[in-house]
Amino acid sequence: TLADSEPTLPTAPASTGASPKDAVRISNPPCKDTITVLPQTSQLIALLTLIRDRKTQRGDFVFYSNRIIRLLVEEGLNHLPVVSHPIETPLGTPYTGVKFQGKICGVSIMRAGESMEQGLRDCCRSVRIGKILIQRDEETAQAKLFYDKLPEDIADRYVLLLDPMLATGGSAIKAVEVLLSRGVPEDHILFLNLIASPEGIEKFSEMFPKLRVVTAFVDEGLDDKSYITPGLGDFGDRYFGTA
Ligand code: URA
Repeated sequence: TLADSEPTLPTAPASTGASPKDAVRISNPPCKDTITVLPQTSQLIALLTLIRDRKTQRGDFVFYSNRIIRLLVEEGLNHLPVVSHPIETPLGTPYTGVKFQGKICGVSIMRAGESMEQGLRDCCRSVRIGKILIQRDEETAQAKLFYDKLPEDIADRYVLLLDPMLATGGSAIKAVEVLLSRGVPEDHILFLNLIASPEGIEKFSEMFPKLRVVTAFVDEGLDDKSYITPGLGDFGDRYFGTA
């Protein structure tokens, strides 16, 4: 079974009945085959529009971010290995389905990544969740590891790494280095992300070609303060109400 519990079976991302022409943008650059961009349905674009809008109040920001996070988790679970699993239905009929193989663990990059923990818990009951705190070292301007707390047996688990914004890639790269140093194979790491910058995702996937990324949208770029544009501002501040 997966993790310490079994998740509900993944479902396909929901789509509205709206015709594709109604979508603000119906395609988003898919890059390499390790990078999955969620289907650009009208519904997803509408959710992203809500959280991008500076006028959206915190309650709505949290609610609609959580809906996108749920889509990311459901899609992420599709990338975990399954094995054949024969069962019998209440009709006494045999049915050969699948079940998840291997254990998982969530790892959130503090603080914004913590916003994605509940979405993971909602799908994977009693999933273990580790934490990594990375901050910019003011002297060197490099991403520096300040704290981590990970399960002892993390090397034996598939890791769902959580961070909503992939800007320069500095924190995510450092977090992956921590996981690799604990023995997690690169192809057992799945990075779940709401919005990525093209440069961040390019650098990240070049450094870790076997690591899978699931993102909701690849934005246009970065501004001079390394904020994603058009982006949504500071995710952590808006989600946790510290702006
Ligand atoms: N982190 C954020 O919260 N927003 C950005 O645009 C970039 C990094």
